[in-house]
Amino acid sequence: MSTIGILASGRGSNAEALLSAAASGRLPARIGVVLSDRVGAPVLGIAGRYGVPARYLDPGRPGGRLTPGAEGAFASALRDAGTDWVALAGFMRILGKPFLEAFPGRVLNIHPSLLPSFPGLHAQRQAIEYGVKVAGCTVHFVDDGVDSGPVVAQRPVPVLDHDTEETLSARILEAEHELYTEAFRLVLSGAYRVSGRRVLSILQRTS
Ligand code: GRF
Repeated sequence: MSTIGILASGRGSNAEALLSAAASGRLPARIGVVLSDRVGAPVLGIAGRYGVPARYLDPGRPGGRLTPGAEGAFASALRDAGTDWVALAGFMRILGKPFLEAFPGRVLNIHPSLLPSFPGLHAQRQAIEYGVKVAGCTVHFVDDGVDSGPVVAQRPVPVLDHDTEETLSARILEAEHELYTEAFRLVLSGAYRVSGRRVLSILQRTS
């Protein structure tokens, strides 16, 4: 069974969705470790409730990227936990090539928009301000850009006339919790191939 390591900075609801799916067998993987770049992040307590080791690691600097030393420390802690796949779940840092090369093609992120629309911070606010009628969420492979890797799965969510950033975010979040497990089920099955930017599912033959 594959082991997933989770990196998260805050609230931890997507991490909890994966922890819960793994605990119930909906996700055929074990969560080996949860790491955070923020002291006392709620996600660390959530992981503890699921009996999963969780700890803060010093990011080395206040925002943006981790320092090279910190990237190395995050990669080592993941490796020590037997990590095959990395899930970014609200991890507010950009990862560099050395980290990504430690887990080639094995790092996923979830983002609260239909990429390539509205990458970066405050995606839901960007969607409301732009006036789109359909928002949503995306799970994608992580490359060294911002929310720019090949798309694994997307789910549309309507934008309603009375929506605020908060109400739209809450509706998208419900979809995120389902989509992350769905996307991991696909990649863990191995029944996909990446062709350029396209992630294509491979039909399983039974004979
Ligand atoms: C989610 O909206 C996720 O898509 C984005 O950051 C938020 C994290 O929320 N990358 P949570 O910590 O998983 O509750």
